[in-house]
Amino acid sequence: MTIRMDQLIKALTTALDIVEGELLGASSMHGKRVAVLSGIMGLRLGMWDEELRALTICALLHDNALTEYIASELDGEEHDAAMKSHCEIGQRNVNTLNFKTNYSDFVLYHHERPNGAGSFQKREGEFSTGAAIICIADTLDVINHLQRVRVERLPEIHRYIESGAGTLFTREAAEAMLGILDENLLETLKDENIEAATLKFIPAWYAEMENEVIINLATFFTHIIDYKSKFTRKHSTQIANRAWLMACRYGYPLSTCTEIYLAAALHDLGKLAISSSILEKPGKLDDEEFEIIKSHVYKTWEMLKDIEGFEEIHLWASNHHEKLNGAGYPFGKKAEELDFVSRLLACIDIYQAVSEERPYHAGRGHRETIGILQDMARKGFIDRNITEDLNKMLLDFDGRDVPPPDLEAFRKARKTLV
Ligand SMILES: [Fe+2]
Ligand SMILES: [Fe+2]
Ligand SMILES: [Fe+2]
Ligand SMILES: [Fe+2]
Repeated sequence: MTIRMDQLIKALTTALDIVEGELLGASSMHGKRVAVLSGIMGLRLGMWDEELRALTICALLHDNALTEYIASELDGEEHDAAMKSHCEIGQRNVNTLNFKTNYSDFVLYHHERPNGAGSFQKREGEFSTGAAIICIADTLDVINHLQRVRVERLPEIHRYIESGAGTLFTREAAEAMLGILDENLLETLKDENIEAATLKFIPAWYAEMENEVIINLATFFTHIIDYKSKFTRKHSTQIANRAWLMACRYGYPLSTCTEIYLAAALHDLGKLAISSSILEKPGKLDDEEFEIIKSHVYKTWEMLKDIEGFEEIHLWASNHHEKLNGAGYPFGKKAEELDFVSRLLACIDIYQAVSEERPYHAGRGHRETIGILQDMARKGFIDRNITEDLNKMLLDFDGRDVPPPDLEAFRKARKTLV
């Protein structure tokens, strides 16, 4: 399957930047700004082609494990340990992108300092130029909010970089930053210009993806989305796993099972842009809050709509709250506009939401969950046949999580059938 990776990653970054602003008070469009700064520095230091692409994409996604990091802090992990896992998980996630260059520490060591004061106590020479570039771009944006810094502060920022060379920043990265940070660059980094600058540094990137890679990539998305709220830690993961299981049991070919898995993984992408205080509110939501929650699916639709190669995936992902009788949202589509996979994902989403624990209800077992779905099917909201298929096919997982896709097992099972 060919995917426009640059568009997909930009969609994810837009969502991540919103979360980062909400959870950490980071400057708006932080990931994009760090990516543009890193791209310009990389060029200055002679990076090109795949290495430059790996650098800018890693810079865009340098805080991709942000939601997991916040979660581990909330779980009582020490700040240093949480910081370390933020770097480790972040690198593990970008490793799925399989760049053909060595980028093994670009995210892992993006908080390392040449004086050994970083989470892994690495020193100058023990981490790559890529990691050092992301580190200085990140630090400067976090401290100065570069999207709105006044030009008069430039000399002060230059002095700060000079004084940090060799301790806070590698000398190489500090020199590169000093060489590019001027009035023009500050203009480029403003909110109104950063999108265009990002497009320039991350040009069209068509990637022919193997099924394995797509599955890893989709799983990476589920981690980020699920960690947005402690009540949905396994929501997208389980929906994706259940969708995979159902697709396999329906006998779809591997490529279709993979696409269904990806659509399921992305269905709640828009939730990243919804405030956690609403997502986690105990008790009943008022009308306005409910409307805000509902807007997540329109946001999913919007984030995925322009991605080349995603025509079906985009529809499957964003139809999950539509109902056969037109009572769903965001578009109030009718039965004839909802294909089989859209109906399947809608049923699985309800199954998962009803069966998992939420602020307003405890978890439920298979029979009780299916009872609720059957009632909805009787009233014309969801597909009756798919509900009965779920009843049969998910019975053996009663109360237990469905495991992630196993391609080996898939191939073996299909061979046996042949
Ligand atoms: Fe970070
Ligand atoms: Fe950052
Ligand atoms: Fe949803
Ligand atoms: Fe959902």
